[in-house]
Amino acid sequence: MKIAIKDAKNQLGQEVEIRGWSFNARSSGSIAFLQLRDGTGRIQAVVSKNDVSPEAWEAAKSVTIESSVIVRGLIKEDKRSPLGVELAATDVRIVQLAQEYPIGLKEHGVDFLMNYRHLWMRSARQEAILRVRDEIAYGFREFMKDRGFVLTDSPIFTPSACEGTTDLFEVKYFDDKAYLSQSGQLYLEATSAALGKSYCFGPAFRSEKSKTRRHLTEFWMLEAEAQFMEQEENMKLQEGLVMHVVRRVLDRCQDEFRTLERDVTLLAPAAEGNYPRVSYDEAIAKLQQLGSDIKSGDDLGADDETVLTKQYDRPIFVHHYPVEAKAFYMKPDPDQPTRVLNDDLLAPEGYGEVIGGSQRIDDLAILEQRIEQHGLPKDAFDWYLDLRRYGSAPHSGFGIGLERTVAWVCGLEHVRETIPFARMLHRLRP
Ligand code: 4AD
Ligand code: MG
Repeated sequence: MKIAIKDAKNQLGQEVEIRGWSFNARSSGSIAFLQLRDGTGRIQAVVSKNDVSPEAWEAAKSVTIESSVIVRGLIKEDKRSPLGVELAATDVRIVQLAQEYPIGLKEHGVDFLMNYRHLWMRSARQEAILRVRDEIAYGFREFMKDRGFVLTDSPIFTPSACEGTTDLFEVKYFDDKAYLSQSGQLYLEATSAALGKSYCFGPAFRSEKSKTRRHLTEFWMLEAEAQFMEQEENMKLQEGLVMHVVRRVLDRCQDEFRTLERDVTLLAPAAEGNYPRVSYDEAIAKLQQLGSDIKSGDDLGADDETVLTKQYDRPIFVHHYPVEAKAFYMKPDPDQPTRVLNDDLLAPEGYGEVIGGSQRIDDLAILEQRIEQHGLPKDAFDWYLDLRRYGSAPHSGFGIGLERTVAWVCGLEHVRETIPFARMLHRLRP
């Protein structure tokens, strides 16, 4: 019977077949140990010369690291293995004998590993991260669907900027040019006016020349938009989403967290809610107290976010940024016109911004003025302005970065390990 390794512990005493790869193998005398993985788990197969055919014994002895194999045997209890069971082999077949594997057990530099990303992802840690990413992505979708948001995919080829003109990737588009989308937000503002509430989840592109541990040039973002939703409700929605995914991973990813040696007690407060709210002005005052030379009017840099978030045990909302520090579409607070109705959600433990959200300008004349002030091409935004000509309503939304969320949840140094194939300033391969 063919089984997945993760189910092996339910097959005690059964004869089973495992198809996978041998990530480590050694033999001495008349016994061989094959460490097997199949993408669902890891198990040790013990091959005794006396229990198998001569061909199977030859195969077991010649298995190299990452050879693909089919191993049959009996599932036996083994108290020392994390899985609690091992495989007493009765047959070993090599599907392909792997050439000398470039990744050894010794320490390799990150650049080396990133060059071999296509193979590196087979390691236990990388496999665990990709599984957590999958759970978070699923949790995103599940939450939005439960809240009545309709998935409307936004285009990748776009005629204009959403988040500012400095970091656009320009591509040839027949005889014209286009830009790779920085954000699906403007399109969601249209689809939400059709459906009430909508979201998109897809890649976004920023040609930011920043070489930080938080920046990719291609990343995945879930964005949500709802009509007749104001900023207060918007923040509640974001808090609910983050609580939902943290609960989900705490519930389902304990094996992965053990592999990653993630201290999950640090994640627990985020599952409880009650995220503190800090106004931009309070944040600046606090940072200055903590020794930063930040001035009022500056956007918070990554270092400022790190210092600030270390003061709290759970994510915090920083809200009411100065108009000039943020994107053209954000609505100024009528009670405080130099500040916008926005929030950045900053993750704890120094991870910094994972969400950017705001209420949008719903007044046609003000929006036209802002597009002009930002030096944006009015023609390209004509369709967007229609949304303020035909049934404009107060509306809000946000975007959450998948890779930054995964980096925080997994406790990783850098976002490059959170996506199957990272795209960064100096990396386009493999
Ligand atoms: O704050 P940002 O730029 O917001 C927007 O794009 C809005 N249009 C979203 C909206 O309201 N619909 O980006 C949102 C999030 C960030 O908080 C961060 O998590 C992620 O996207 N992000 C990046 N992740 C990795 N690499 C980058 N270069 C990123 N830029 C933004
Ligand atoms: Mg932002």
